[in-house]
Amino acid sequence: MKIKIIDVPGKNSRYLYEKSKLIGRTQNACLYGIALQSGDGNHIIDADGNRYLDFLSGAASNIIGYGRGDVVEAYAKTAMRLQHSCYAYNLNKEAIELAEKLIDITPGDFEKKVLFDLSGSSSIDGAIKIARKFTGKKGIIAFKNSEHGSTSLSMQASNLSNLTEGLFLDNGFYHVTFPTREEEISDVLAQIKALLKKDVAAVLAEPIQGDAGILIPPKNFFEELQYILKEWDALFIADEIQTGAGRTGRWWGIENFDVVPDILVCGKGISGGYAPISAVIGEEKMVDSLEKAQHLFTYGGHPPSCAAAKKVLDVVEQEKLMENALQIGKLLGSELKQLKNSEMIKDIRGLGLMLGLEIVTENLAGIVGMRCIEYGLYPGYYGKYNEVLRLQPPLTLTVEEALWAAKIIKKVIDEMENKEIPNSTIEKYKKYSCGSICSTCSINSGFKEVLVKHNAI
Ligand SMILES: Cc1ncc(COP(=O)(O)O)c(C=O)c1O
Repeated sequence: MKIKIIDVPGKNSRYLYEKSKLIGRTQNACLYGIALQSGDGNHIIDADGNRYLDFLSGAASNIIGYGRGDVVEAYAKTAMRLQHSCYAYNLNKEAIELAEKLIDITPGDFEKKVLFDLSGSSSIDGAIKIARKFTGKKGIIAFKNSEHGSTSLSMQASNLSNLTEGLFLDNGFYHVTFPTREEEISDVLAQIKALLKKDVAAVLAEPIQGDAGILIPPKNFFEELQYILKEWDALFIADEIQTGAGRTGRWWGIENFDVVPDILVCGKGISGGYAPISAVIGEEKMVDSLEKAQHLFTYGGHPPSCAAAKKVLDVVEQEKLMENALQIGKLLGSELKQLKNSEMIKDIRGLGLMLGLEIVTENLAGIVGMRCIEYGLYPGYYGKYNEVLRLQPPLTLTVEEALWAAKIIKKVIDEMENKEIPNSTIEKYKKYSCGSICSTCSINSGFKEVLVKHNAI
């Protein structure tokens, strides 16, 4: 693969960017101002025909890449026969087959049941409702800087930014530090123990915090946590929306910590991006503590979406994509570790194909991302201060693609160290990533000073 510079965003993307003001700004996180038109294997193609190796995968959803005729066929064949049944009134076999599959791949030597939803957020709501109804308690402990969604319960559980401001939501949520070092565990567990004396139904956690910037807890944290929760009859809910469906090399992120959650929530990758679908999987007696219609949706268990998701999960198994995620993730990680001594890099971390490159200071990950885009590699960036380059390609990534991506990232970091990032890239980042329609990013004042201080320009 040759390296050439792409002028992004192109004319058609810019046109759509202007038109995008028709959609409320709350739904635009302003990544790079690029509109997508199609996908092909592990590549995406923008509205101007520019091609990028996809390291964002539709926010960690498109796990088996683009243009999978077998998944589209599973969806289309079902839709031709029966596009919808409203599961609540008329059962359908596709929903039941997907439930069987999810139960089969979810850890736990007990009877399980599934609830279907349309988004990770609403499935988190479902899990919280189950925990409250089953335990008869209200409190939910979540972690600082967590991201669980945008419906009212999932949003209150989240803590990455002040999203609930002005929405007059109810309370009952507590947030404790997410430990990333062994030394922090006892303090965090002491905080949790103190809260458990109140009225706590469950602890909700991402096994690896994603949007906070790929934060990995010490190996024994969840095990010790669960031991305490059992003493207090409180449940453990694993939010596997980002870590699940094989991304970390196991079906679920929590399996890397040898813990069986009471309730597991998944979304994003389970349908490979081919259908909007999410699910809650939990112990039968817990799930069935909810009464009829306490968590029910017209489109929950939508037959074509369930058929597509079942096909995606089968593909992950048949094509050994978890093994691939582990192997390619290791390769990519070791290539990027060559940057360890760079002044620009604070940390390189992750599991499987959920990797993060922490850049020395806030917003620089976005500029690294913007420059990567110009070279044809499409990463994301996140973290509390937009300081982590987000590397979450499809699990179908090849060795050749991984090596090429590492080469581009190293080249961009090199440019940054040598103050060779063009001003035009930084201006584009400011305009399209944190431009006029995005009031939530705080980079415009003092931005240049930050870059100069950290030798980025
Ligand atoms: C860990 C986690 N939980 C929940 C959500 C919300 O999922 P959705 O956007 O499908 O509602 C996200 C989305 O980014 C997530 O990363």
